[in-house]
Parts: sequence; C-alpha cells; structure tokens
Amino acid sequence: MTNQPQRFATCPDRRGTGSEKWDRYAGRDIIPVWVADMDFQAPPEVLAAMHDRVDHGVFGYTHEPPGFRESLADHLATRHRWTIDPDTIVATPGVVNGLAITARLLARPDDEILTFTPVYPPFLSLPGLAERRCIRVPLATSLDRWVIDWDALEHAASPRTRLLWLCHPHNPTGTAFGEDDLLRMAEFAERHRLVIVSDEIWGDLMLDGKRHVPLASLDHPSAKKAVTLVAPSKTWNLAGLGCAAAIVHDDAIRRRWRAAGGGLVPMVNPIGYAAAIAAWRHGESWRQELLALLGRHHRLVQEAVASIPGLTCRPADATYLAWIDCRESGAIDPQAACEAAGLGPSDGRDFGAPGFIRINVACPTDRLVESLRRLARAFA
Ligand SMILES: Cc1ncc(COP(=O)(O)O)c(C=O)c1O
Repeated sequence: MTNQPQRFATCPDRRGTGSEKWDRYAGRDIIPVWVADMDFQAPPEVLAAMHDRVDHGVFGYTHEPPGFRESLADHLATRHRWTIDPDTIVATPGVVNGLAITARLLARPDDEILTFTPVYPPFLSLPGLAERRCIRVPLATSLDRWVIDWDALEHAASPRTRLLWLCHPHNPTGTAFGEDDLLRMAEFAERHRLVIVSDEIWGDLMLDGKRHVPLASLDHPSAKKAVTLVAPSKTWNLAGLGCAAAIVHDDAIRRRWRAAGGGLVPMVNPIGYAAAIAAWRHGESWRQELLALLGRHHRLVQEAVASIPGLTCRPADATYLAWIDCRESGAIDPQAACEAAGLGPSDGRDFGAPGFIRINVACPTDRLVESLRRLARAFA
C-alpha cells in the first residue's frame, strides 16, 4: 500500500499468544477489529529498554524508578504544554484501575458519578462495582461531531453527585474537547462541588495535527483539583504491560491513593516502567509516523462508510477508533451482520449504544482495506 512506512506494513502473528483480541474469533475467518490495542510491534527504542531491564535480571518489588516521573512530566510539558510537579505523579497498573480507585477515594456508597455516553464500558460498570451510582449524560450530535449537551449535564447533577468521569479524547466517538468546553466543564464542577477525573489515555493520539488540551492544564480552580489518568499503553502499544499514571495535585488525596485500593491493586512491574520511560523519552518519531498512518486509515473508513447506504461515521479528532452508526442500515443486529461477513468489531451495546459498532483501524493497511470490504458486505 502506498505511503505506509515499512514498520507498519506488516505485523507479528498474534494467534497463540493469549491475545484477547485475536482469541475471540480463533479458528474462524473473522478479522478482529474490536479490543483497543494495535497489531504493530512497539518501537525498537522501547523494546531495547525492556531488553536492558531483563538483562539486569532482578525483578523484585519495584516502586516508581528514577526517571519515571520526570520522563512523564517532560512528555506532558513538551507535547501538551502542561507543566507539572513530578511529585504529583502516582504510578498505577492501569487507567481502569485508576478510575476504580477514584470511585472509592472521592465518593461514598450511593454517591453519583456522571459520565458522557456512549462510553468505554468500564465507565458504566465500575461505579456499580464500587457501590456508587453511574449517571449517564448522553452526548448530542452536531453535523460532524459528538458534542456535550449542556442542558442534559445540568439536569443530571444532584446533591449526591461527587465526580464527573471525563474520557478526553473520548472513546468511542473520538471527540477531543476544546478549551472552551473544558472550561465550561470546570465551571460546572465548581458550581456543583464535584471533582473531574479526566481519563486522557488517548491524548497522545490526536489526528491531523490537532492539539490535546489536558483538562488540568487550564487556569481554573476545578482544573487544579482534577485527577488526570494517562498511560503510554494506547500510543506505543504496551497495554499488556500494565503501567499507567495518575496525576493528583491534592497531597491528601495522593497520600490516600494506595490505601484506597484495599490491598487488591498490585504494584507496577519493572518491565512496564522501563517501557513507559523509553516510550515517553524516545517514542516521538515512531508516534509521528503512527499518527500519519492513522490519519490515512481514518480517511479510508470515511470513504468506505460514505459508500455504504445506511451507515454514518462522524470523523474522529483522535484515537484509532471509528464509531459507526448503523441504525439506518436496516440491520437488526449490526454486530451479528458484521461477524457473518467476517468482521469482528466492538458492539455498540457494550457502550450503551445499540445500533452502533466500533472499528479499530490500528492494523496494516491491507488488513484494514479487507475489513472495510467485509463491512460493505455486511450491509449489502
Ligand atoms: C478511555 C480508556 N480508558 C482506559 C482504557 C484501558 O486502560 P488500562 O488498560 O490502562 O486499564 C482504555 C482502553 O481501551 C480506554 O479506551
């Protein structure tokens, strides 16, 4: 395929490696485009750092090693114009885990957590698992984007609301919220005395040169109180290594972070740390190549969807995810229709949106082209 850097033209066979994405359809001619990881190898600089750490040969209990907090702080300052004190960073073995901690740390049983829907499924399930209540605030659509319905947000708040869980950029719609929206959210949070937890795991995957604005970088009191969750996992394909970070400005909350895990949260592993530091320090040229590829892949999806009657897909600002509305297609079960045609997307029902599917475009171009051919067949 034209313009595809060699490193993204092929990828290892993930079958037989315990890959969640590939095992679902093992032995069937169904291309898996569901779980949000990529089929590409991590950057060579990251692999080299992991090899070095393995060669050390000792893998005892490990807390944040030298360079972990500093490399993340540098990354945020350089790439997102957000200057933080490295001491505000706490390592966590995952962003989902960080969300679960905030439910326990910043809300009490039966308190309410607001979230914009459709959304990445753990946003919907984690509050209940912590005996908190998830309050869904549906996003609205404008002509070409998913946007906040401010009236719906205002109506959703109650005296029991403690948290707003923001997914920014947003999975599955791909909307990256701009400064005006973020400021308005911060004002809303201040008025209702709630804390915003901003999951910015997709913040390094902005498309077409767009800029990610970290919520907590705004000059607003609520932004200073926000908890931000980040990770190198989406951008450099390291999800299985379980290394993420929370940025918590409030000292008292940060000190109570680990205890809120109730003894159930493991420490981050030494290989995950080594990979994260290398990705933040040395992963930039790889990231830029990836972004160029993802931009082209999103355009291929737009072209394909435009030619399939009944499907629509609003262009994403960020992510490697395409959120496709199949409600006008006449298909009663779009997920089943796709699987019958040899394509395995994520089912919109899991995100609170029946009639939608989500497609992961982070695979070699040939595979994406074949996936889109199968998409057309599913709705023929
Ligand atoms: C918005 C969002 N948050 C968190 C995660 C998962 O994060 P982790 O693997 O660090 O728990 C994902 C994975 O798709 C995601 O899309």
